[in-house]
Amino acid sequence: MKVKKAVFPVAGLGTRFIPATKAMAKEMLPVVDKPIIQYAVEEAFAAGIEQIIFVTGRGKKALEDHFDRCFEIEASLESKGKTDLLKQIQELVPRTGTIVYTRQHQPLGLGHAIWCARDIVGDEPFAVLLADDMIQTKGKPVLSEMVEKFDRFRASIAAVMEVEKDQTDKYGILDAGPLEDNVVRIKDMIEKPSPEEAPSNLAIVGRYILTPKIWDYLGKKEKGAGGEIQLTDAMKGLLREQPIFGYKFQGERFDCGDKAGFQMANLAFALERPDMRDKLLSFIKGIVNTC
Ligand code: UTP
Repeated sequence: MKVKKAVFPVAGLGTRFIPATKAMAKEMLPVVDKPIIQYAVEEAFAAGIEQIIFVTGRGKKALEDHFDRCFEIEASLESKGKTDLLKQIQELVPRTGTIVYTRQHQPLGLGHAIWCARDIVGDEPFAVLLADDMIQTKGKPVLSEMVEKFDRFRASIAAVMEVEKDQTDKYGILDAGPLEDNVVRIKDMIEKPSPEEAPSNLAIVGRYILTPKIWDYLGKKEKGAGGEIQLTDAMKGLLREQPIFGYKFQGERFDCGDKAGFQMANLAFALERPDMRDKLLSFIKGIVNTC
């Protein structure tokens, strides 16, 4: 079965980004000129996803409006003959019915947020994208690569990368062995272990493809690290029944839920834009020279 649905959990409180996130979803913060969420939605459609399921919470209205038509702006751009901009805002509205919203009434954790989409996804494999994990690649986007791997392995797969040993308490960390180029077979995983407890420095980042068996484990709603219902714990349960693979993607990952990571993403993505690159580079060089 093809991966046709993608769940976007966007109901977190974004406390690391307060005060910016007091009244606004962190997924709506712009990287260069697009909200973070738009990059991830484009990545999902590019990977062949046909239906996006947003799991939202309070204060996420701007996110819903972003993917809807805005007749005032369209009329104004049209009357001024700004056809390029008009096309741009019209194109970012997905075909009617391809975006579905559900709510997580309380932010009980990532695992719980995904579980809130269970009836919409149903009995088929699905992707999960954490939009605040932005990944810049030279080649194909990470989810496209993962869909290809899923089609081959027919098993759950998570994007993984090596992190500094003293950072393991921020991630789900793997015990895994090599399988083939860029793919590991996961033996065990643990959410946010201290560097001493961590079985390796291989961490899961925000792209997953999961088989529907995961619902059995998410449905247990057991609290884990930080008192939250964790996806990692459900995947650990799934491992007892089915294999799970890790895809070591090629690219730079930015944690946009973190203030420094967000600034780095802005710089990295802006430097890819020919109209901004030279200006920014000379600005950065100026700063570096005075440090
Ligand atoms: P984070 O760990 O980044 O949590 O969640 P957060 O609450 O958004 O941010 P901080 O740590 O307080 O700053 C990872 C992803 O899971 C979603 C978030 O929206 C984010 O995309 N999430 C997390 C939920 O949808 N619901 C939750 O209960 C927790």
